[in-house]
Amino acid sequence: MESFRRFFLLSFIALLAYFAFLASAEHHVHQFVITPTPVKRLCRTHQSITVNGQYPGPTLVVRNGDSLAITVINRARYNISIHWHGIRQLRNPWADGPEYITQCPIRPGQTYTYRFKIEDQEGTLWWHAHSRWLRATVYGALIIYPRLGSPYPFSMPKRDIPILLGEWWDRNPMDVLKQAQFTGAAANVSDAYTINGQPGDLYRCSRAGTIRFPIFPGETVQLRVINAGMNQELFFSVANHQFTVVETDSAYTKPFTTNVIMIGPGQTTNVLLTANQRPGRYYMAARAYNSANAPFDNTTTTAILQYVNAPTRRGRGRGQIAPVFPVLPGFNDTATATAFTNRLRYWKRAPVPQQVDENLFFTVGLGLINCANPNSPRCQGPNGTRFAASMNNMSFVLPRSNSVMQAYYQGTPGIFTTDFPPVPPVQFDYTGNVSRGLWQPIKGTKAYKLKYKSNVQIVLQDTSIVTPENHPMHLHGYQFYVVGSGFGNFNPRTDPARFNLFDPPERNTIGTPPGGWVAIRFVADNPGAWFMHCHIDSHLGWGLAMVFLVENGRGQLQSVQAPPLDLPRC
Ligand code: C2O
Repeated sequence: MESFRRFFLLSFIALLAYFAFLASAEHHVHQFVITPTPVKRLCRTHQSITVNGQYPGPTLVVRNGDSLAITVINRARYNISIHWHGIRQLRNPWADGPEYITQCPIRPGQTYTYRFKIEDQEGTLWWHAHSRWLRATVYGALIIYPRLGSPYPFSMPKRDIPILLGEWWDRNPMDVLKQAQFTGAAANVSDAYTINGQPGDLYRCSRAGTIRFPIFPGETVQLRVINAGMNQELFFSVANHQFTVVETDSAYTKPFTTNVIMIGPGQTTNVLLTANQRPGRYYMAARAYNSANAPFDNTTTTAILQYVNAPTRRGRGRGQIAPVFPVLPGFNDTATATAFTNRLRYWKRAPVPQQVDENLFFTVGLGLINCANPNSPRCQGPNGTRFAASMNNMSFVLPRSNSVMQAYYQGTPGIFTTDFPPVPPVQFDYTGNVSRGLWQPIKGTKAYKLKYKSNVQIVLQDTSIVTPENHPMHLHGYQFYVVGSGFGNFNPRTDPARFNLFDPPERNTIGTPPGGWVAIRFVADNPGAWFMHCHIDSHLGWGLAMVFLVENGRGQLQSVQAPPLDLPRC
């Protein structure tokens, strides 16, 4: 009798486990309370806008197939919205987050619940505020593990360390933005870079907070590096240790080793690191890759990788030995940045569209708006102008009274137009000496329509207007393949022949080489309004953006879902 009972119980448990495996998708419920919180950095305390009082914000850990419901409660004095950077949000633009593109902002005192599902995605992504400069302090990691039992294409270390690179201003970032918006000049550069919210040993009043990562000798860990910085591409290294790159922007890569990575705002890069050096203390450090002819924050943030058996100094004053410092490339080392990016390959054969239905060519770059009165305090840009930026000469202006997606869904006219040009309105030598007559873009709120399931190619061509620069271009709602890139002007006759249509890296954010171009491809299989923009926030504010309107296909499964009832009111 007893053995029968036991048999019954065991089979029951086995059955339960089986069902748990089948129905392993979980539902995650979180509250994000947006609240001002005292944060002390660089000797001073600021009332930083945070999520749940945390800076950086909470790390979300989910699995492929899971669903999330995140209720954002706005207890700050600013409008806000949250974007889940890299999540595809299939047929669900309502949960994407960019203010005035897919929703109106959540006003002080109001709430909105972002409901979405992870569909066929795994790896490192992140979330951030998508409302003016609030993302300076409102951001966090979003880690997606594979479904239970689904393998990694590399041997996955037991330990996983998110490394969030950020930028810190010794002022309220919203005031920094406000000042720049008033004067028309460039915003002040940041005062520090941060690793997981801490500037590190090379800044005033920061040593006590420096992040330390203990590591066991011989251990391999995965670093999930996220550039959550506002305006700066970064080089990142760990002294004496090599990285094996295994993933970028939640897509696996063919593994390769390197001493340094370059990572643009919006991008993520997973690397494996093995503690195979002498037991000791090693700095990890990040500092600017500055491709533009413009001021930048030239400081260096550090954290410490610390072997658990690192020797300590003997004798008087219990001492830890000074960490070894890594060699970082020079600030303008475009050769190293390009060589790194060019080594990325998708981990297997990629399903790249081989034919193209929509062949788009977008110039991206800066511009200057002339002022009637160049001495005006509002025209403090170069030679009495105001800074601008554009794509195909269109400088994007956010709507103010509605979101593009809502206006599109409800058929409300007057919010945007659909005449974004597929090619530049004027052809010129984009990367040469551009005549001053072409420096001034036109302001507007323009979208480009795409047919459902069309194969899209976009060549993003940097211009030398004001300065050539690496622009980390991000597309919402999609992952794309980076099929080619080069310096100078794109040549439609010769360059496509060299495209990699076999194993190009998959990403959601890719930098234009400074004074060069990059070509991407994707299938427009996600209906909705999707923002495409430079992830350098000063450039975004100047108008370096546009919107794709991807039409519905046939039937419910190819159409945008109905908006949630609590979508913030405009
Ligand atoms: Cu990570 Cu539109 O942004």
